[in-house]
Amino acid sequence: MHVLVSGGAGYIGSFAVRELIRQGHLVTVIDDLSTGFLQAVDPKAELCVGNLLDGLFVQQVFQKRPIDQVMHFAARVSVPESIFQPLKYYENNLLGGIHLLRACQKFAVSKFVFSSTAAVYGVLGPTAPLNEFSTTLPTNPYGTSKLFFEKILLDAQKAWGLNTVILRYFNVAGASLDLQLGQRTANATHLIKVAAETAAGKRPEMEIFGTDYPTPDGSAVRDYIHVEDLVSAHLQALTFLEEHQNHKGMTEIFNCGYGRGHSVLEVVAMMEKVSQQKLKVHNKPRRVGDVSLVVADNQKIKMQFNWVPKLDDLATICKTAYLWEKKSQV
Ligand SMILES: NC(=O)c1ccc[n+]([C@@H]2O[C@H](COP(=O)([O-])OP(=O)(O)OC[C@H]3O[C@@H](n4cnc5c(N)ncnc54)[C@H](O)[C@@H]3O)[C@@H](O)[C@H]2O)c1
Repeated sequence: MHVLVSGGAGYIGSFAVRELIRQGHLVTVIDDLSTGFLQAVDPKAELCVGNLLDGLFVQQVFQKRPIDQVMHFAARVSVPESIFQPLKYYENNLLGGIHLLRACQKFAVSKFVFSSTAAVYGVLGPTAPLNEFSTTLPTNPYGTSKLFFEKILLDAQKAWGLNTVILRYFNVAGASLDLQLGQRTANATHLIKVAAETAAGKRPEMEIFGTDYPTPDGSAVRDYIHVEDLVSAHLQALTFLEEHQNHKGMTEIFNCGYGRGHSVLEVVAMMEKVSQQKLKVHNKPRRVGDVSLVVADNQKIKMQFNWVPKLDDLATICKTAYLWEKKSQV
């Protein structure tokens, strides 16, 4: 199959590209390298450097290649930044995606996998795990931009029969076991990345936002998923769309998480354990838009895709993230 991967130079997209190639697919990447990295792209993929906001460029990429499926990772991804620069998020995450969809419509590409997020749920308080029917009520522009795009995909389904798998990721973390790929994101705000950078000496200290949440230790709880397990869900989504290619218009949403959470303090303790050192941490007030607990109900993806996570272990996630930071120069 020929798969177009937007954002294939980014953290998660680069893992997907590598796995697609491993499994024998042809891959074309669109990436403007704004937060992605040339060296993260598997050399067996064709990289088209350009911006999704340039609709003509996107059409030209499709025109020259027989694309079968699209995996759409490209986005602005920082929750805190989205609160201060909402228009940047709406413009990039909506208009960029629309240009991709226009090309899909024009070149009759009917299979689309979208990187969505648990941030679409918002969460109203300490609750049970979130399932795909939980209320969507984003608390920040990043989450809102992702939810809006989900709605656009539903409209595309109705209007011209697009078949879409929407994967709502929880907190993605970790590096590959061979340490060839990992998260290079500059100025990352993701907890495990920040803790790994601190452990590797790239940051002198780290901050803990909120120690008075209604959780057992007072710090916020999140569901951390290893990036390789997330990518395996994408490959299954690809097969699922292939198997359903005679459907004329279908949208399936799946949560991608392990179904249990770890607190910020547990993550810090685990990073200290795997790096065998004490991290310097500062307690800070809660951040605007943050919530106490976000954990996935992952029954649907387990049942429907028969998805079996292989790296569901906080120690493995923290250790690979730490070793990656030790190894990488960026
Ligand atoms: N990292 C997480 O924990 C997480 C959680 C939930 C959802 N997601 C989603 O996963 C996807 C990938 O996230 P990531 O963490 O790999 O981020 P990332 O910033 O590493 O990757 C995004 C990639 O998209 C590219 N890009 C962005 N806008 C573009 C544009 N207009 N044109 C061309 N290329 C563009 C960037 O250069 C980058 O390579 C995003 O859609 C994000 O919303 C990530």
